[in-house]
This record gives sequence, structure tokens and C-alpha cells, in this order.
Amino acid sequence: MIPENIINEIKEKADIVSVVSSYVPSLKKKGKNHLGLCPFHSEKTASFTVSQEKGLFHCFGCGEGGNLFSFIMKMEKVDFAEAVKIIGEKIGITVGAQDFAPSQNNKFYNLMEIACKFYESHLDEVNEYIDKRKIKNPKEFRLGYAPDGWDNLLNYLINKGAIAEDIERCGLILPRQSGSGFYDRFRNRLIFPIADQRGRIVGFGGRAIGGEDPKYLNSPDSVIFNKGENLYNLNAAKDFIKHQKFAVLVEGYMDVVGCFEAGLKNVLAPLGTSLTTKQAQLLSRFTDVAIIAFDSDSAGQLASERTQEILKEAGFDVRIASFPEAKDPDEFIKKFGSEKFFDSIKKSSPATEFKIRRIINRFNIKEAEGKSKAAHEIINILSLEKDKILKSEYVKLAAKLLNIGVEILIDEIQNQTTYKNKGYNLKRTTSKPNSKVKEAEKTLIRLILEWEDALPKIKDEFTLDNFTEYKDIFGLLWMKSASEISSLQEENKDSKILREIILSEEPIENKEEILTDCINAIKSFNIKSKMSELRNAMLLSEKEGKTEPLKSMNEEYLKLNEILRTLVR
Ligand code: CTP
Ligand code: MN
Repeated sequence: MIPENIINEIKEKADIVSVVSSYVPSLKKKGKNHLGLCPFHSEKTASFTVSQEKGLFHCFGCGEGGNLFSFIMKMEKVDFAEAVKIIGEKIGITVGAQDFAPSQNNKFYNLMEIACKFYESHLDEVNEYIDKRKIKNPKEFRLGYAPDGWDNLLNYLINKGAIAEDIERCGLILPRQSGSGFYDRFRNRLIFPIADQRGRIVGFGGRAIGGEDPKYLNSPDSVIFNKGENLYNLNAAKDFIKHQKFAVLVEGYMDVVGCFEAGLKNVLAPLGTSLTTKQAQLLSRFTDVAIIAFDSDSAGQLASERTQEILKEAGFDVRIASFPEAKDPDEFIKKFGSEKFFDSIKKSSPATEFKIRRIINRFNIKEAEGKSKAAHEIINILSLEKDKILKSEYVKLAAKLLNIGVEILIDEIQNQTTYKNKGYNLKRTTSKPNSKVKEAEKTLIRLILEWEDALPKIKDEFTLDNFTEYKDIFGLLWMKSASEISSLQEENKDSKILREIILSEEPIENKEEILTDCINAIKSFNIKSKMSELRNAMLLSEKEGKTEPLKSMNEEYLKLNEILRTLVR
């Protein structure tokens, strides 16, 4: 953790305009802001805006934005701590190693590095195995060998001055079951060092050389290692991923090594478990397209399904590559060569298309029964697709592959969807806010940020429930001061709209009048929604022959109508 006072000092001293200028040479003063060409998307006219006074940047073209720290995080693809360090360096504030990571952890990183060197120095002893697996350049991956025997590493590290408790906390040794003392976790195994995003060794994967069980043994989680939050090879692959704008996800260490050596360098793997949300988020800092290239066996396919879900949820475009006649990408490369392998990557298909094709392959669609079963599985998948264009494209594809009419599929999907929605039909029908309400809410936010009288007046009229589009932002404004809002750290859909409002050029002139207009617009929308709810409820009571509630609802309806008339003069 970096001490709060250092972060604050950097915040005070660093000038966003001068730091950003070094990345955006076109940045020039215009009005109260600075304007330049956005470094996050390609554009010909400047829409990248920086406010020196507010310490914020925002691109009106692509929506990227934040404060100086988030600018460096995005520009340099680093985490917050590292961004602080980089900015500190630029303005002459040292964020020392001891501030950077607790010194406690440095000790562990050191130990892992020494252990890694130890394993590397023994690699010669398994040259034969390396040749057999056709690994061309094991040094590039810092591959190593854990010699056979109970305490080779333990003794080595103790001689280097380490203490057993620390070595144990790194997961390198285990306490003996009988008596006292420890023994090496990795014995007679090929060692795959696992580096974190900054290249520090945090764990190891050990492959059995002589068919022992388990085939792979991994470091346990430790103070510096979390399997669910690291990806194998991310540090080496990240620049290639950024460049090529996609990542290839494989299952095994050997697949990563094989792909990398075949020339596919934007490749990585989870660490012996299925992909986690955290890993997907980590990857999403470098790209939003992922190609899954998992093993061909059923375990691999199952893992692939789960991985697809996680990646989709994290916002990825997911594609699937397949490797017929080989158990995994590494074997495919060794069998058929890297050219054929690259072909398979190029021929990868979008996840949904892949699923459709796989279902069709599972059934004999030449027979009516098989065709119907396949169709129904496909319908299940397509009725979940929210994107209407994609849905219609996949319906066309499925109809073609199944050799049936598009209308039949559409009809069945329709049935499926209404069936699923039935339970919700009586749910409150909240009307969508129209653009007028949206604009009014946005203007109120601007007023609150520019004019201290605005918030109390608005609070007099509304509770948070009266807002629709920007309810969360009002929630923040209800609790926090305007200046706190401008320095919000987290990036979400609200911060984007907030920046747009804060960085907009002209201040609002006739504040009182505009405030009243906005309040009235939101009030009438609320009343109209309430009225439409009442209308629905009245229709329902009428159908069910309940006359009692009908009367009071009608009275309320008329009352609301009266209020509405006074609002829209
Ligand atoms: N794995 C594991 N523990 C096991 C088996 C597998 O952690 N007992 C993880 C490893 O990360 C491994 C990955 O799952 O790399 C894929 O397993 P597998 O396909 O069996 O291994 P490969 O990487 O293909 O290795 P090899 O070619 O050496 O068999
Ligand atoms: Mn495999």
C-alpha cells in the first residue's frame, strides 16, 4: 500500500495538463479547457478534453476519461499503485520500494526469484525431456527442473540465509508428517515459473517427468500468489495482445509454450482452474476479443462453455477455435505444423455460431427426430440472445444448416420467449423515460454542480425514487459534495456522464427558470407513469369484476390528471 499522504502530495503537485501533454502533443488551450487528439481512439478532429482546474480528462468521442491516475493507468496499462509511482517519478516524488509493496512481501518475491534461479540452473538434467516435448527455447520461459530428492531446494535456500517459515509461506516446502522439519514440494518435475503482470515470480507449475501423479502440481495460493487472479504468460503476452487486439486463451502451460514458439505470442492460460471473473477483468485491460482454444476432449469443451460465459459477462467478444484430430493446441502444432495452426485460429467462429454447429453435429439431422431435437436445443440458445441483429443472423444460419424454414424457427423462439416472460406480465410496467426527462435530469445535475442553491431546492421537490435515468448519480449527489464528486476514482457509466457535465463549456445563465422547467418536466413524467400504472390496474380489476378498488383508483386518476394540467401550462 502506498501511504495516503504520498498519494495526496502527488495529487496536489502533479499538473494534469503537463503530464497529459507528454502523451498528447496536440493538446492546446481552448476556452477554459485544453483540447487535443484522443490517444485512446483514432480521430481527426480533437474531442479529447482536459480541465486543468478540475484535474479531469474526458474524450467526447470515445467516452474515455478520469483523473490523472486513471489516465496513466489506461495509457501505460498499469495498476493504480504503479500509476502513482510513474507520476511520482515525473514530478520528482519518490514512491520508495518500501512504500510500494509492504517490505514483508518483497522478502517473498525475493525468495521466489532465488528458487526460480535454482530450478533454472538444473534444467540441463532434463534436456532429453525438453527435446522430446520439442521445446525450442526453454530459457525464454525460464523453465527449470526440480531435482529428485527431499530437500534440495530447502537446503539451498537455507544456505542463502532464508528461514524455513518464509519458504513454507511461499508454498515451496511442506512440513514433514512425522517428526519435525520440512521437505520440498516440487521433486523430479519440470518447472513452469508463473510471473505476475509485472514479471515477478509468484508461483510454479510442476510437470511430472516420469508419469507420477498428479501430472501437474501447482504452488498453493500464498501472500503473493492467487491462482484466480493471475494468468500464465500475461506479462510476456500483454504487448502482443494490445497490438493484435485479441488474446488466445488455452488450457495448459504446454499449450502456451507451444503456441508462443509457433509464433502466436498473444497467448495465455488460466492456472489449473477454470477462468475466473477476476482473470477476465484483468485480461479486459488489454483487449476485448478472446479466442478460446481449449482441449478437444469433453472436459475441455465443458471448461470452454464456462469460460465463454465468464468472458461474455466481462464484455468480451468470444470466438472459438477448434483443433480436430489433436487433443490440444500444442499437440496440433507438433502434428500439423504452425501454418495449419494459424489457419485454425483464423477460422475461429463466434461462440454462438460454434454452439449451433456443435449441436447439429451431435444429432442425425437427416431424420425428423434428430432434426427436431437439434432445432429445439438451438432454439433454447437463441431465445436467450438479446441482440436482435445477432439473433436474426443466427436464426438464418441455423435454418440453413438444419434445412428448415426460417419462419418455423422464429415462431418457436417467439413461443419460447413469451412462455418465459409469462410470469412477469403483471409486474409493474415502468415506462421508459423519454429524452426530455433524461435531458432534464442531466441539467439538474449540472445545476447542482454549478450552483449551491440547487440541491436543497431539488430535495424539497423529489426523493431519489423520482429519478429514472440518472438515479445513481443523484444518489451520490444527495450524499457527497460537488468537489468530492469531481474527484471520483472509480470508472463506471455514471462517471462518464458526470465528466461530460463537468467539462461542458458554458455555464447555465437563467438558473432559477431552468430549475423550475426541469423539475416540472420530471414531475409530469412521474405523474404520467403513475397514471398509466393506474390505467392498467383499473383494466385488470374490471376484467376480474372487482368494482370496489375501481372507484378509488378512478378518483386518484382524476386527481393526478388535475395536477398534470397545472404543470403543463
Ligand atoms: N492441470 C493441473 N493439475 C493437473 C492437471 C492439469 O493443474 N493434475 C492444469 C495445468 O495447468 C495444465 C492444464 O491444467 O497445464 C491442462 O492440463 P493438460 O491438458 O492435462 O496438460 P497439458 O498442458 O496439455 O500438458 P501436457 O502436454 O504436458 O500433458
Ligand atoms: Mn492439454
